[in-house]
Amino acid sequence: MRQFNPREFVDEKIRFLKKEIGGETAIVALSGGVDSSVTALLGFKAAGGNLKAVFLEDGFMRIGEADRISRVFRNLGVSVEVYDVQSEFLTALKGIRGAEEKRKAFRDAFYKAFSRIAGRAGARIILQGTIAADIVETAGGVKTQHNVLEQIGINPLEKYGFKIVEPLKELYKSQVRRVARELGLPDEIVNRRPFPGPGLAIRILGEVTEERLSIIKRATSIVDDELADVECFQAFPVLLEGRATGVGEDSSRKYGYMIALRIVESEDAMTAKYVRLDWSRLERIRDRMMHEIPEVSRVLYDITDKPPATIEFE
Ligand code: XMP
Repeated sequence: MRQFNPREFVDEKIRFLKKEIGGETAIVALSGGVDSSVTALLGFKAAGGNLKAVFLEDGFMRIGEADRISRVFRNLGVSVEVYDVQSEFLTALKGIRGAEEKRKAFRDAFYKAFSRIAGRAGARIILQGTIAADIVETAGGVKTQHNVLEQIGINPLEKYGFKIVEPLKELYKSQVRRVARELGLPDEIVNRRPFPGPGLAIRILGEVTEERLSIIKRATSIVDDELADVECFQAFPVLLEGRATGVGEDSSRKYGYMIALRIVESEDAMTAKYVRLDWSRLERIRDRMMHEIPEVSRVLYDITDKPPATIEFE
C-alpha cells in the first residue's frame, strides 16, 4: 500500500470538497474532537465563507466544550455558532434504556436538529468527520455509530433531506491526527482523546436523566483533569446502572451510584488494551469522586481489553 502522506491527502481532499460543494452552502457540526475539526478546516480551505460551522449543545457534551472549541476556531479565524438543543435531546432519549435503542434515538434526534439548523442556514450539504473505524463497526453490526448512514442502507437525502460528504472516511485515527498537524490545528485538538458522537448519553448505562447527566459530567471533568498528562488512547468514567450501599461523610447509610473507569491504549480503536495505571492515581480519582460527587458510593476499574469488550460500554 502507498505510504500515507498528509500533505497530499490535504490537497486531494480540498480538490474533492471544492467539487462536491461547488458554489453551494455547506455546514459542519463541530464536536470538539479531532475528526470534525479536521473536516471543518478542510471544508474552509475548499469553500471559504460558503461553509458554516456550528456546535450543537445537546446536553451530552463535556463541561466547557462549546467555549473550548469556539476559542480554538476563533484563533483560526473561524466563528462557530452554538445552538442549545438540550431539551429536545433529553426528550428524545426519555425512557430509553438499551444501548442500541439509545444510539438510534440519538442518531434520529441529531439529524432532525441538524437538518433544521442546516435548512435555516440554506445548506443542503453536510460535511461530516466519519472515519474508517466508525464505518467498519457499524457495518459489522457491533454498534450503531450515529454518523454512519449510507453504509447501512439509510439514504440521508431521502430520510433527512441533505447530502452528506465525508472526506475522512478512509482514514484511521492516527492518520487523522497527522492531517490535523499538517493543517496547523493546535496540540489540544491534535492529541485530543476520542469522544463518541452520542457523547455522555452512552456513558450513562440505562436511562439518561438530568440527574444522571450531572453526575457523569462532574465525573468526566475529574478524570480529564487527573489524567491530562497520562498517555493513553482514551480515559473516561461510565455511570453504571443500579446502586450500591455505602457510608456517607456524615456516617449515615448511602445508597449511591457506581462509576466505572475505562482507560485504554489503542492505535486505531479496532483493538485496545486496558492501561495498568498507578494505584495512587486511581486512588486519587476515587477520592475526588467520593468527595466531589456525593451521589456516588463506588468507583470500579475496568480491566477488559477489546476484544472481547468494546471501548465504550454501549
Ligand atoms: P468502541 O466502543 O466501538 O469504540 O470500541 C471505538 C471508538 O469509536 C468511538 N465511538 C464513537 N465515535 N460516534 C463516534 O463518533 C459513535 O457513535 C461512537 N461510538 C464509539 C469510541 O469512543 C472509540 O474511540
